[in-house]
Amino acid sequence: MSEIVRVALAERGYDIHIGGGLLDRPGPLLKPLCRGMTPVVTDENVARLHLEKLVAALRDAGIDSRPIILPPGEETKSFTNLESLCREMLRLGVERGGVVLALGGGVIGDLAGFAAGILKRGVDFVQMPTTLLAQVDSSVGGKTAIDVREGKNLIGLFHQPKLVLADTAVLSTLPPRELLSGYAEVVKYAVLGDVTFFDWLETNGGAALAGDAAALAQMIAHCCRMKAAIVARDERESGERALLNLGHTFGHALEAASGYSGALLHGEAVAIGMVLALRLSERLGHVSRLETERVAAHLRQAGLPAGLTDLGGERPPPERLLEFMARDKKADAGKLKFVLARGLGNAFVSADVPLDAVKAVLAE
Ligand code: NAD
Ligand code: GLY
Repeated sequence: MSEIVRVALAERGYDIHIGGGLLDRPGPLLKPLCRGMTPVVTDENVARLHLEKLVAALRDAGIDSRPIILPPGEETKSFTNLESLCREMLRLGVERGGVVLALGGGVIGDLAGFAAGILKRGVDFVQMPTTLLAQVDSSVGGKTAIDVREGKNLIGLFHQPKLVLADTAVLSTLPPRELLSGYAEVVKYAVLGDVTFFDWLETNGGAALAGDAAALAQMIAHCCRMKAAIVARDERESGERALLNLGHTFGHALEAASGYSGALLHGEAVAIGMVLALRLSERLGHVSRLETERVAAHLRQAGLPAGLTDLGGERPPPERLLEFMARDKKADAGKLKFVLARGLGNAFVSADVPLDAVKAVLAE
């Protein structure tokens, strides 16, 4: 049984299928999209665990696929890999009307989606997300990108997939820390737009994380429904889509301060960033201390960090974090921009947050 969520973008619209075992029998959904040779872009970890079965299922469906296996990790989202991936797909003979399959986490989805978007002036692609983060966030909405020295995700394009196949069964092989990192993005949806979902997570989040298939699928589908609705209203992030960046202004600064070393995963940074955004909202009179503590307690109970004091090692000095935030600031007409909340489930974007309030939150 799988659930289907539609991303209603007219001619760029597509379905997200969510359920256990989808990659065991993808033929009926993929066959109509595949023409000629179909590259399956993945990373070494995912290849080891899930590629053989997928390739066999594609063969059974009469789809001629060729795996392209890249190293795992954020460094893979580079110009060098983009070039070699594009050239490899050309060598293999991908057709203008063909399709690229992206099997992996956000790194593979972002890179393969970008490559598909520029190959032969744009070929179709299908997202097959294998991390919780990718199933609830990065595989939906068409943002694709690579990183450069100047910053993360700065080179890329909006290229919507033709289909998303989120097989919840593959999450069972995900390292627990990666699963939890994705859970931070799940909690983000609740905090930004749905307090009832937050209630649900307090009761059922633990079961979903422990591998309860029904709870997991329900949770992922809910996040996808929320993201699909936001993307349908604001595909290019001219407004509402920015709410999905809740916790990211602080989070990106924390990631940058950690040197993207793996000491702090993206979701862990978002978890801390989300609580800091709530503390900032609290200082500005928008949420109560009780609401902030409720979110922090839930994150900690799940096993995520929820404050600067939860960081292992040395706490980054506030001035250093502000410096990283100031770089973001340049991109937005010199203003510090934050996603804040007016109570749980009611986020908004504020472009004129007083610097003193931010400093105070970082020093708390
Ligand atoms: P990731 O792709 O690096 O995957 C995390 C790790 O899990 C990797 O080591 C990978 O090999 C491994 N892995 C993946 N699936 C597995 C499985 N089923 N079993 C075992 N191991 C598995 O990281 P991620 O957290 O999925 O994604 C992070 C990336 O997503 C970042 O580059 C970020 O910029 C991007 N992102 C993009 C968007 C978007 O809208 N496009 C949104 C959020 C994040
Ligand atoms: N992950 C943020 C977005 O898709 O807009």
